Amino acid sequence: TTVPKFVTPLLIPPAMPRADVICSRGEQIDYYEISVRQFQEQILPAGLPATTVWGYGPVGGGKKHGRKQADLHHAPSLTIEARYDRPVRVKWINELVDQCGNFLPHLLPVDPTLHWANPPQGTDPAVNGSGPRDSRPEFTSTPGPYTGPVPLVTHVHGAVGVGDESDGYTEAWYLPDADDIPAGFATVGTWYNFFKGKAAAKFDVTWRPGLAIFQYPNTDRASTNWYHDHTLGLTRLNVYAGPAGFYLLRGGPAGDDAVRDSRTGRRAVLPGPAPQENDPPNRRYREIPLAIQDRSFNADGSLFYPDSRAFSDGIVGPYIPDGPFSPIWNPEFFGNTIMVNGNTWPFLEVEQRRYRFRALNGCDARFLILDFNQIPGVEVWAIGNEGGFLAAPVNLTATNGNQLLMSPAERADLIVDFTNVPVGNHVLRNAGPDGPFPSAAVADPATTGQIMQVQVVPRVGPDHTTPPEFLQLPGITPLPAETLTRGLALVEQAATGFDASGDPVEGPVEVLLGTVAPDPNTGALVWTARGWAEPVTENPATGATEVWELYNTTVDAHPIHIHEVKFEVVNRQDIIADPATQTVQVVGSTQPPRSWETGFKDTVVALPGQVTRVKARFSTPGQFVWHCHIVEHEDNEMMRPYRIGPRQP
Ligand code: C2O
Ligand code: CU
Repeated sequence: TTVPKFVTPLLIPPAMPRADVICSRGEQIDYYEISVRQFQEQILPAGLPATTVWGYGPVGGGKKHGRKQADLHHAPSLTIEARYDRPVRVKWINELVDQCGNFLPHLLPVDPTLHWANPPQGTDPAVNGSGPRDSRPEFTSTPGPYTGPVPLVTHVHGAVGVGDESDGYTEAWYLPDADDIPAGFATVGTWYNFFKGKAAAKFDVTWRPGLAIFQYPNTDRASTNWYHDHTLGLTRLNVYAGPAGFYLLRGGPAGDDAVRDSRTGRRAVLPGPAPQENDPPNRRYREIPLAIQDRSFNADGSLFYPDSRAFSDGIVGPYIPDGPFSPIWNPEFFGNTIMVNGNTWPFLEVEQRRYRFRALNGCDARFLILDFNQIPGVEVWAIGNEGGFLAAPVNLTATNGNQLLMSPAERADLIVDFTNVPVGNHVLRNAGPDGPFPSAAVADPATTGQIMQVQVVPRVGPDHTTPPEFLQLPGITPLPAETLTRGLALVEQAATGFDASGDPVEGPVEVLLGTVAPDPNTGALVWTARGWAEPVTENPATGATEVWELYNTTVDAHPIHIHEVKFEVVNRQDIIADPATQTVQVVGSTQPPRSWETGFKDTVVALPGQVTRVKARFSTPGQFVWHCHIVEHEDNEMMRPYRIGPRQP
């Protein structure tokens, strides 16, 4: 079956209803109670089967004028609207239980041979979430997927200044409060109780099983953030199953109100409005979030995700392991449809005027190149990225061929001007590859090469928005000089395992992070790969400003995300990597960040054959992570813990 395109209107996620506004320790706090549930969603066009997914939504469905509303759990989920300097507190509830209170198993094949949350391993901290991986004979001889209760933990991606107790540490997961959790299962991850104690003392909150209460200070620059699951070894599956949504931080010194019209010096007008709580129905929005994700479906409408390395969906693969290595996990997943805000290939009606799109690449592994070239007369400007507004608006039409590269988890705040686009239907295309970036062949123009359709109609009423060339964006205060530079590595190497008689065997390639340091004798820069379970090597002092040099010694690009901070992209420089000696050599001159990488970011494309340098200030002490945001990589060792300030007790 082929999936018809452009028959479903783009869904614009409403604002998440708050449960309450509470006063806590003299502060006004926006309070939410948000659960993850399983439900059916019409992702494919009407007439095709519905899809069982998971998504976040307000517990109780949200109330309006005292009346209970319909269930608002969706995938992607409703948008959390946060205001500058006003904390948001969320009770995140794992409700993956059925009507009888029994746990729901995962929708997708869970690979128990990875280094993962691992509830059946019980509460032994030596094993639970920290055990050996891949080649355990007891797993490789019984390689079936795990079918027990599902651990979850939510991370707000892009939140800065968050205490580590609220960051959604990947080993602070928790099972649902189900009646039938098997005896001996760990119901929480190894870090859960430590963080729970910390949060309980900090926020004065009470807890039940199956949830966590996190609080976000929202004192950073206004920006387009998002929230999604972050459970160790499960993120690729949990996010693919649906739980993700936008978290928009507005206001403050770098918010919309601080943007000037350079002609008058007065406040500029940006396209809007965006959905807000208690909006009247059928309101027309001109600030529109676009969560772009790839998916594949089985004939019955269920989500397809490979359950074996031997999989081939016609796009990539097969990946057949040649040793006792994880038989289920795949190094990347590329779907054969493109979904925007939870529908495959939707359409959006736009007038001949300016719109603001907040785009998110929410794919597991796919790099997107937004390509506006088949929308004649359009003009596209980038005004922001993950860290809020850029230093200055960038005309992508004039300077970048009407295109924008977006790696998984990157966001783009765009002004798209349809004023001069002829009335009619036009397609926003994807010029990125169906496979790893940059080497794989360009996406199939008939399917994944298309994102959505815009149906352009005449403008009704004037367009009062400021033309992008006159937008004077809020000033950016550069970070102070660094006090430390760290050499870090992105590594691809053959996995080692052990056969039945205990002899080492070499397996398929695996990806890891690591450190880079000069050899004391030769001075050559040598890399050392390090897995998730190794002790922390990145330990900035509280308040320190550091440059992290990301040496990509692999053949593919990786989007690197550092929790807790927004960083400056300093520059990039070519390297020569020699896997035989595990050394890198820096060559050539430095390249400045691309014009849409100015300001602050939280995810950066580390291209192969280059060192990418980023600079951040590490202000909030605690235990966080940094990782590749190709979530298949993140789930299988391309993630490291890092710690700001003193060691945790
Ligand atoms: Cu979007 Cu560590 O994640
Ligand atoms: Cu990666």
